[in-house]
Amino acid sequence: MEVVNWKELLYPYAQAVDELLLKFQSLDKECRNLGLYSPIDSVSGRLKRPSSILEKAGRKKIPAAKIVEEIEDIAGIRILCQFVEDIPKVIDMVRQRKDMTIVEERDYINHTKPSGYRSYHIIIRYPLHTALGEKTVFAEIQIRTNAMNFWATAEHSLRYKYSGNIPQDLQDRLKNCAEAAFHLDTEMGTIREEIMNAKRLNEIRSHLVSNILENLQNLYFVAKLDDMNEINREFIRIWNEEDMDALKEFNEKLNIMAEMYQI
Ligand code: GTP
Ligand code: MG
Repeated sequence: MEVVNWKELLYPYAQAVDELLLKFQSLDKECRNLGLYSPIDSVSGRLKRPSSILEKAGRKKIPAAKIVEEIEDIAGIRILCQFVEDIPKVIDMVRQRKDMTIVEERDYINHTKPSGYRSYHIIIRYPLHTALGEKTVFAEIQIRTNAMNFWATAEHSLRYKYSGNIPQDLQDRLKNCAEAAFHLDTEMGTIREEIMNAKRLNEIRSHLVSNILENLQNLYFVAKLDDMNEINREFIRIWNEEDMDALKEFNEKLNIMAEMYQI
């Protein structure tokens, strides 16, 4: 293989990793700040090392001059999700962006690899403005759950240790682990609904309580003190019962009272 100027080859990819990392982290932060649900749990990025690039080029018979055109994962971003259900949301976020172009999608979630590997890959073309001018590079975005990542990281270490020839017995056990990870994702998926419902319910409840407190405050200006003492006692009793319907009913009563006093 011809000599490769690694510094020159890698610097745009390093910039791409930095920029993409910042963009996806900002997306996650923005969602949280706006009180929106963020499908992103964490984001990481890495630059493929020259030894890995050479290994891949050798394995795929790619000449040095074609590395940039044919190796698509020199810049890599990994987005981890808590739940499988979050993955399509992240995919949509990538599809909607105008600052990158998708050239390929590989769905190893609906099409699990024989190894047991599960993940969603998106290959993009990403335009850069470098000190030496404009340059468009490939980058690979891997989207997977924490459980999928746990498995893939472990399997990767073993694959590396055994140079790809993992003993059959170990392969079988890895397959079992992949199934356990799949099961964990499925079970977490059922809890996800519960979590979303609980969040929604908390939201409604806190909204209702704010409404009640506002109504009480307004009534203080117009209602008789004895009436207000009675109403406050009732509120505290209902509040302690933690009964949503009773809270709703109480708020209705306050609304009617407020209307009456307005007349
Ligand atoms: P390489 O596998 O890197 O040669 O890339 P490829 O062009 O064959 O694409 P592929 O979609 O198969 O893999 C891209 C990347 O996904 C790899 O570099 C790994 O990070 C990851 N990957 C793919 N298959 C496996 C697997 O069986 N186990 C693990 N741990 N990771 C995998
Ligand atoms: Mg591969």
